[in-house]
Amino acid sequence: MKAEEIRTISVVGVGLMGHGIAQEFALAGYEVHIHDLSPEKLQQAVQNIRSNLHMLTQIGLVLPEQVEPGLGRIHPHLELREAVSGADVVIEAVFENLELKQEIFQQLDRWAPPHAILASNTSTLLPSQLAVATRRPDKVLVAHYFNPPYLLPLVEVVRGKETSQETVTTIYDLLTRIGKKPALVQKEVPGFIGNRLQVALLREALSIVQQGIAHPQDVDIVIKNGFGRRLAAAGVFEVFEIAGWDLILAVMQYLLSDIESSSEIPPLLQEKVARGELGVKTGKGFYDWTPESAEKLRQRIARALAEIARWP
Ligand SMILES: NC(=O)c1ccc[n+]([C@@H]2O[C@H](COP(=O)([O-])OP(=O)(O)OC[C@H]3O[C@@H](n4cnc5c(N)ncnc54)[C@H](O)[C@@H]3O)[C@@H](O)[C@H]2O)c1
Repeated sequence: MKAEEIRTISVVGVGLMGHGIAQEFALAGYEVHIHDLSPEKLQQAVQNIRSNLHMLTQIGLVLPEQVEPGLGRIHPHLELREAVSGADVVIEAVFENLELKQEIFQQLDRWAPPHAILASNTSTLLPSQLAVATRRPDKVLVAHYFNPPYLLPLVEVVRGKETSQETVTTIYDLLTRIGKKPALVQKEVPGFIGNRLQVALLREALSIVQQGIAHPQDVDIVIKNGFGRRLAAAGVFEVFEIAGWDLILAVMQYLLSDIESSSEIPPLLQEKVARGELGVKTGKGFYDWTPESAEKLRQRIARALAEIARWP
């Protein structure tokens, strides 16, 4: 099936990620069938979509006249079978648990039409681990969104060993049609692209703090006010095309042996977690938090992402 023939999307599990994924397809004109475990969870998802859309109209990313028609295209279902029986594409976004996801994929395979593509929003599992639960491994892949999905355009499209080129092309084109920026991961590996890069940066940041080179606040200042800003506009390959690869070769020659390369969990991270200093949710991490200061940070991030979302 080609992307332009797709009409109906099902989203299974409409928590933090799933409701945002459903919202985007509904806004783009698709009929979206959603499924979760209870009427309350379904209601909450629709409520969350309504308040997101309200926020998006206030910042000018959505027109007020798009809101009600968008919401009208969302159809909640308590029965999984009902939710997926007319689907062209199913996106699964339930808890991150292999057994649960395999069980869901087995049911999706049973109840979704034979032509339907089955995609998972998993952050850590590989498409092949889900495809084995189905009789259509050629139509299974990962479509990994970033949070919040309605402000971050990236979706990593990860092909499994048996995913067909047709499936990859259809999902890639579908996502492009609704304004997402898909990136293709050709080989299934843990962390795909985005989380491998983020974890590499975080490992070095933790090492800098652990060695007493700088406080966490100053590491964050460097990222937010220096190269982090540039990275919102250009990727590393683009940036170093401009700087010149000879320059980065010289930098690597002198720096590489000094930066962190351990495959152990960073001791500083282990200590933080052992002390229960988990960040916003316990009121303390590398910073101290009140509910108000945490909300202020969330708002600051959302406002900045909304600004960037306006860029061409
Ligand atoms: N949170 C993130 O930042 C993020 C980012 C990218 C990808 N992901 C991935 O997205 C998926 C969902 O994560 P989340 O953060 O939205 O979790 P969440 O806990 O907010 O939502 C999960 C939803 O799945 C529902 N659910 C659980 N079992 C179900 C079942 N058997 N049938 C139907 N619904 C069921 C839950 O009721 C809940 O509403 C995970 O695979 C996660 O790895 C999360």
